[in-house]
Parts: sequence; structure tokens; C-alpha cells
Amino acid sequence: MLKPEDMSLAGKTALVTGAGRGIGYAIAETLANFSAEVLLLDKDEALLQAAVERITAAGGRAVGHRVDVTDAAEVNRLAEALSEQGAGMDILVNNVGDHLNLIKPFLQTSEEEWDAIYDINLKQIYRCVRAFAPIIRDAGSGGSIINISSIEGYRAIPTCATYGAMKTAISGFVRNLAMELAPYRIRVNAVAPETTETEQVDPKAFTHPQYLEHWDIWNPMGRWGQPKDTAAAVLYLASNLSEWVTGTTMHVDGGALAAGGWYRMPGQEQRWTLAPVISDSGFIY
Ligand SMILES: NC(=O)c1ccc[n+]([C@@H]2O[C@H](COP(=O)([O-])OP(=O)(O)OC[C@H]3O[C@@H](n4cnc5c(N)ncnc54)[C@H](O)[C@@H]3O)[C@@H](O)[C@H]2O)c1
Repeated sequence: MLKPEDMSLAGKTALVTGAGRGIGYAIAETLANFSAEVLLLDKDEALLQAAVERITAAGGRAVGHRVDVTDAAEVNRLAEALSEQGAGMDILVNNVGDHLNLIKPFLQTSEEEWDAIYDINLKQIYRCVRAFAPIIRDAGSGGSIINISSIEGYRAIPTCATYGAMKTAISGFVRNLAMELAPYRIRVNAVAPETTETEQVDPKAFTHPQYLEHWDIWNPMGRWGQPKDTAAAVLYLASNLSEWVTGTTMHVDGGALAAGGWYRMPGQEQRWTLAPVISDSGFIY
């Protein structure tokens, strides 16, 4: 029988990358609220300090480390320091990711742009798993590795093909790594959010004002995502409640993937259309 305490992360240590703001901050705050000790990583010192202060002021246990996850030396230095301290780790959340405003037809993109998108969305996951997963394995108590993918790994995103490719690759990596780490009782999963209101993605800012009338029907559930939506999925995957869940991706998207191309019709709650209801892309880019 499951009990509320199965949701608790008491006694566990979690590392969250890109935890200074947005979805990463919400994940760190949530894991701390459920009693984990949280190591926050961010490349931005000011964001990091503010995030740690907010969590500790609320009674959580949080330590900040200024680390740029695209820098192998910085990642490895922290891993070595944690190993030397004998610090355990149970949960690793690879949250960093960015579209880098690379929004243009694929045939106009450069190899350098491909490499930059690869580095910030995929290779940094390689670096962090390679550096921190051995700490989880060596502690011998199992664990959970959670990677933040995107709905764009599951549906096409025209003019962002490179970003979509990297987010799709995360799911393949998760399936394979889950098998390799299962003998150590380390689970590996991903969470794939739809558009979530953060500093990186401000949907109101890139929607033409004349289309804001469609705001409440753009997503089947009537709103965009909030960082806490993804944090809730991460909490489940981090806790013992998901002890038999590995190699999979949780969709946190208000039903967008299920809807495919279906949209509610303006002003008509129960009517839906597959036809475009606006005359251009709707976006300011
Ligand atoms: N916001 C969305 O709509 C959305 C949708 C789907 C998936 N995602 C994914 O969610 C994750 C978080 O997105 P967000 O919108 O919260 O982003 P954000 O840009 O608002 O926050 C990212 C955080 O990561 C830090 N960071 C960036 N590069 C770093 C690096 N190299 N090393 C260490 N820290 C670094 C930033 O300083 C910042 O604190 C990303 O993987 C993103 O692809 C976001």
C-alpha cells in the first residue's frame, strides 16, 4: 500500500542543472520542499545565489555551485570534489537546454549553429551523466536520472529542426541508458513539456497582439505550462512512487500532443477544428 511518505525525498540528495531560474528553479524548489538536499548548478552566479537564498529562506536545504555544463573541466571538477567529500547523490536532473533563438529554415543553418545547439541540449547531458552517474552508482542505493526534453522531440517544429533533433535524441538516450543502469537500480527517464512560461520562452511576447484573443484555446487545457507542472513530473520520477518506471518520457503538455492539429474554435467551447483559424504564423519572429 502506498503512503504519502513514499513521495518524500528525505535522506536523498539531488543535483539540478540550470537551477537558477525557470523550470530548473521550480524543480530544485520542489525537490527541496519534499525534503531532498538540493545541489543547484547554474552558470549565472547572481541567479544561483538568489535561488539558493529563496529555497533556504523557506526552510529547504540547498547548496549552489557555479558551473557551466558546456565546460567539461568545470563539470568534472565538481564531480571530483563531491567524490572526495564522500557526498552521496541519489537524483540527477539534467534541465539545461536552449533553442538559442535559432529559428530559420534548416537549409540556411550552419555547422557552427548545429554544434552550438548540440552542445547546450545534448552533449552537456553526456558530460553530466558521465561525471555524476558514477557517484550515484557507487553509493549503491539506486537512484533516478531525469532529463528535460520537450514536446518538440515528439512533434515537428518547422524552422527549429536542429533543436527538435536534439530533444528527440534525449528520448533515445534515456531508453538505452535505462537498460545499462537498471542493474544498479538507477532509473533513467525524461520529461517533455509543451510551451512553459519562463524567461527563455515568453509566449505572450512572441504572439502577435491580434491573436491574443486565441490565448485561452491555444492549448486543450486552456493555458500554457508553468514551471511547477514540469517540477511535479520530476518529483514523481525522483520519488519511490516511480520505482518501477524507467526508460520512458512523461508528457507534460496540457494535451497538446494528443490534440495533434486540433484546436478549439474561437468562442465555441465544445467545437474543434483541424483548419487554420488565423491567416499567418501568429508569431513575431
Ligand atoms: N520553457 C519552455 O517552453 C520549454 C518547453 C519545453 C522544454 N523546455 C526545456 O526546459 C529546460 C529549461 O528551460 P527554461 O525555459 O526554464 O530555460 P531558462 O532559459 O528560463 O532557464 C535556464 C537556466 O539554465 C541556466 N543555464 C543556461 N545555460 C547553462 C549552462 N551552460 N550551464 C549552467 N547553467 C546554464 C540559465 O542561467 C538559467 O538559469 C530546457 O531544457 C528547455 O529546453 C522548456
